Amino acid sequence: TPEPRTGADGVPVGWFFTSAGSFALDEPDGLHSWLPANDHPSDKAAWRFTIDVPAGQTAIANGKLAEHRTLDDGRERWVWEPSEPMSTYLVLVLTGRFDLVDGTGIDGVSVQHAVLTSDRARLEPAMALTDDLLSFFVDQFGPFPFDTYGIAVTEAMEGLAMETQTRSLFDRRDLATDGTLDRLQQILLSHELAHQWFGDAVSPASWSDTWLNEGFATYGEWLWLEHAGLGTVEQSAALALSEPRRFPPADPPADLLFDRTVYDGGAVVLYALRREVGDERFTEILRAWA
Ligand code: ARG
Ligand code: ZN
Repeated sequence: TPEPRTGADGVPVGWFFTSAGSFALDEPDGLHSWLPANDHPSDKAAWRFTIDVPAGQTAIANGKLAEHRTLDDGRERWVWEPSEPMSTYLVLVLTGRFDLVDGTGIDGVSVQHAVLTSDRARLEPAMALTDDLLSFFVDQFGPFPFDTYGIAVTEAMEGLAMETQTRSLFDRRDLATDGTLDRLQQILLSHELAHQWFGDAVSPASWSDTWLNEGFATYGEWLWLEHAGLGTVEQSAALALSEPRRFPPADPPADLLFDRTVYDGGAVVLYALRREVGDERFTEILRAWA
């Protein structure tokens, strides 16, 4: 009977129960409230999730679905397997009444989303953007580091998303739409996908390094916004530069690990580097880093 606790930066972490089911949200240090582990971002491990739920429920975790069957007692067993090692804070666990929706994918990368059955129609635009985002970022950053990707959407925390490895977690209220995705929705979707390279594949050695996650993911947002005609990288950088900076982005106090200074300040550092070395060399650096 796990109970959420307060994480290092003051935000609740752990395994949460909602009217839609349950979900885990553990960055930076919530996983060990429900699963024994060396809960440190530098210690990646191989994972396989075997989750039993009542009949009619779906359980979702990272990676590809390896097995789904009904047990003798009527419960359903769901087995998920990510192909690559993974840090503890990137674990995805969801239970509830979900549809698994296949996308087109790109060469060598399958796409599978997990959305609440009742939300499916209003999340079609968010799911549909994934293939475009994937091709765009592969073009920018190099090969996608995993064999599958998708979005996982439930009743989580409004305004907060998480780059859980191979399947990013979002709140249903943030992505639902009857029409086209707005700017903020595109920011959320592009940000979490960029993290799959920067944060997930390349993980921080210590939590002081969150700018290496958040600065790069924010820079990824800026690239996508420019590509989508929603503002140039230069405009995004100018806006970020106009914000107050409360500390050096690479030296955050523990309670400000995910402050805007880390996100926008980190992205500004990358933009400054790009201006210093030139566009071409900078793209080489991004790819070499990943
Ligand atoms: N890494 C997430 C993102 O930027 C944000 C998670 C915030 N977590 C927290 N404990 N404050 O996409
Ligand atoms: Zn982020």
